[in-house]
Amino acid sequence: MHVLDAVKARISTRAFLPDHVPEAEVRALLDDARWAPSGGNLQPWKVHVVLGPARDRLVETVKKAIAENPFADEAELAIYPPSLWEPHRTRRYQLGEDMYALLGIPREDKPARLQWLLNNYEFFGAPVGLFFSLDRRFDKGQWAHLGMLMQTIALLALERGLATCMQEAWAARAKTVSEFFELPEGEQLYCGMALGKPDPDAAVNKLRSARADVDEFATILSA
Ligand SMILES: Cc1cc2nc3c(=O)[nH]c(=O)nc-3n(C[C@H](O)[C@H](O)[C@H](O)COP(=O)(O)O)c2cc1C
Repeated sequence: MHVLDAVKARISTRAFLPDHVPEAEVRALLDDARWAPSGGNLQPWKVHVVLGPARDRLVETVKKAIAENPFADEAELAIYPPSLWEPHRTRRYQLGEDMYALLGIPREDKPARLQWLLNNYEFFGAPVGLFFSLDRRFDKGQWAHLGMLMQTIALLALERGLATCMQEAWAARAKTVSEFFELPEGEQLYCGMALGKPDPDAAVNKLRSARADVDEFATILSA
């Protein structure tokens, strides 16, 4: 697969087939992805994976935690800044509108929209869940490096016929997930990632998010 094809084919998949993904395949994927770059080659990332019965156990644990306390765990990391400014605010809004339009959930049906979001905590049906964490002592630079690993995993997954969805939604349940993996106090959970075979028939997987033109985000000086 050409790099450009992978970059363009990678989307956030939000409906998966239940097809099993063997542990060996996940290991091989991580073995390839570890070649992602990081400043000073610190390789600051930690990856925590669930599949098989462990995946189901985590989903059940989180479901129970949500039932007991529908409010998010105390947020250490805000998913977005408190009042998002333009053009980012509109982009976020548009993404939600486009997604719910495909799902056939109207704007006024807030309960249905919220209910749908809970699919995050089942990895959208994916058989594998990955989580990414960093030592709390790391700073912003290392957070960016972790992103490079995540994108590398997402691109390499495509070559194996697998799809992904990065899931910061899990940050809202960071405490529960950290306890599940018995993460040491010094380790901060960042994000989850669903991994599996995409459901080709699911309407939500038809979502193609827009991107700003190069001139909107790049300044190129040539003289
Ligand atoms: C770090 C990160 C976290 C994300 N968290 C979620 C999430 O919790 N749930 C979700 O449905 N999508 C999530 N997304 C997907 C974004 O909405 C998506 O990447 C963006 O809209 C661009 O669409 P695309 O990935 O299909 O190109 C996340 C993406 C990133 C990069």
